[in-house]
Amino acid sequence: MRIVLLGAPGSGKGTQAAILRETLNIPHISTGDLLRQAARDQTEIGKQAESIMAGGNLVPDAMILGLLRERLGLDDIQSGYILDGYPRNLAQARALDELLDELRLPVQEAIQIDVDVDEVVERIAKRAELEGRNDDNAETVRHRLNVYENDTAPVVDFYAQQHKLSQVLGSGSVDDVSERIVAILNADDSDGE
Ligand code: AP5
Repeated sequence: MRIVLLGAPGSGKGTQAAILRETLNIPHISTGDLLRQAARDQTEIGKQAESIMAGGNLVPDAMILGLLRERLGLDDIQSGYILDGYPRNLAQARALDELLDELRLPVQEAIQIDVDVDEVVERIAKRAELEGRNDDNAETVRHRLNVYENDTAPVVDFYAQQHKLSQVLGSGSVDDVSERIVAILNADDSDGE
């Protein structure tokens, strides 16, 4: 399967992508993780991205597309992929379509995980205590949620127009959400038969 996971910060994209990676045996590609790794490695991109991420803003499209292009050039995506954190705006969605068309591996299913704002704020506050991610403080989280509403929410319509969008309730236990996602993927599979 070739899947894009959409949803606000804290909606559970990373958590669900990690489960899908195990159950479907396909790579999980998180642009947030790629950027955090680049920052730890102090690459040129990592150094530039660090302060932008700490402020809760999106890094420039060209910068992230370069990283993504490199990652999608690896052979393991031939069996499928789960994209988490990309695309974050319409320009990225269009660039992704072009890139995946070139590779003949277009997105099959875009799944939006939908969670109340109060719940995502609470989840991220908990994670801040446990992990200390430097963009998880209350002020930056509010800003990340605004960026999501302004820039990323239109991407949902982009996939709806392509008839690739499913929406799933992201509250409840991790297992509950995971079961809902698997049900969508199974339904999609049997539609394709
Ligand atoms: P990124 O790393 O993508 O962060 P995000 O989208 O803000 O997402 P989060 O990691 O906060 O949440 P998630 O939805 O993955 O939820 P998770 O599973 O972790 O991006 C970070 C930054 O990098 C951006 O702000 C930007 O600067 C930059 N960036 C990344 N991609 C970019 C791009 N394409 N373009 C430009 N800039 C980009 O869960 C959250 C917490 O909740 C966890 O603690 C988890 O354990 C918990 N949880 C999960 N599910 C449940 C559940 N069902 N019940 C209770 N708790 C749960």
